[in-house]
Amino acid sequence: MKVLLTGGAGFIGSHTAVRLLEKGHEVVIADNFVNSKPEAVNRIRKITGKDVKLYAIDVADRKKLETVFAENSIDAVIHFAGLKAVGESVRLPLLYYRNNLDSTFTLLETMKKYGCNKIIFSSSATVYGDPATVPITEDMPVGNCSNPYGKTKFMIENILEDAAHADPELSVVLLRYFNPIGAHKSGLLFEDPNGIPNNLMPYIVKVAAGKLDHLNVFGNDYPTPDGTGVRDYIHVTDLAAGHTAALDYVSEHSGVGIFNLGTGHGYSVLDVVNTFIKATGVNVPYVIAPRRPGDIAECYASPDKARRELGWEAKLSLEDMCRDSWNALLKNPNGLAG
Ligand code: UFG
Repeated sequence: MKVLLTGGAGFIGSHTAVRLLEKGHEVVIADNFVNSKPEAVNRIRKITGKDVKLYAIDVADRKKLETVFAENSIDAVIHFAGLKAVGESVRLPLLYYRNNLDSTFTLLETMKKYGCNKIIFSSSATVYGDPATVPITEDMPVGNCSNPYGKTKFMIENILEDAAHADPELSVVLLRYFNPIGAHKSGLLFEDPNGIPNNLMPYIVKVAAGKLDHLNVFGNDYPTPDGTGVRDYIHVTDLAAGHTAALDYVSEHSGVGIFNLGTGHGYSVLDVVNTFIKATGVNVPYVIAPRRPGDIAECYASPDKARRELGWEAKLSLEDMCRDSWNALLKNPNGLAG
């Protein structure tokens, strides 16, 4: 299939591009590089030995997006593009609503115009808000999101569901990611956030490299085994494989399929720190800091539905995730810039 990846130069998009190419699909990437670098696309080519067509465009730019569809016979779209920083979304809500929603509207309208009717959307476990119980199953309540970023994910899920309801030709898969970390085993692709990282693993890696002094562990008084927050960390390579499975699914099913992509295991912040130290032999100094506003105690997936209906499950361990994240930093001390 010829698959358009919006945001395909980003962390999850680039790993998914590799997986798709390895499975024999053709990949077209549309990315405005607001939080990614063109070098990621070169790395995709290097890993796979295959070419990728790249459009350096904003998906919300209708004219330019139409060019992509006019020049390529796109069979399916995986929609990764979007702003994703929780804290920034609280400060700049209109930017988040405008950007994430507008690009989705333009994409759906353009798909319709060009007869493309399969879409996989990058959603997030954040749509579950603070879950009443764990593990989280797909039928649990959604929508109680604490920040504009999460709300855009929930809104886009709703928009896609309504669009699929009104148009029986449209097939939709919503993938609710848990906490993607790790990097490509070659060390060529990895998460490369601008500035000081917000998320745990990129922060740990910078502390281990001596670029930041210590990790702040946000709270040790949660009702969890060691008091620190528990999450379902998933290797980005496993997550990428979830997308090729979803592509098969969206080709064979109509309507809307909703799947958690997680491992089903919850690890605390201190579990991650200790596993990182064990896997790499590098120390990670940390201090216990106050809770981060908006954080929840515990969040991990039930991956059963994805296993049953997509035939997919995560295979790599937390140790693999830590080792690969560190390996990527060692190979790219200055990030994707060189
Ligand atoms: N944490 C720290 N110190 C840090 C960073 C994080 O202790 O410097 C802790 C957090 O408090 C949390 C855990 O590490 O307990 C994971 O935090 P992340 O910021 O890595 O991830 P979140 O679970 O907060 O958020 C992630 C994505 C969101 C997504 C959400 C879905 O960043 O985009 O998962 O559950 F919405």
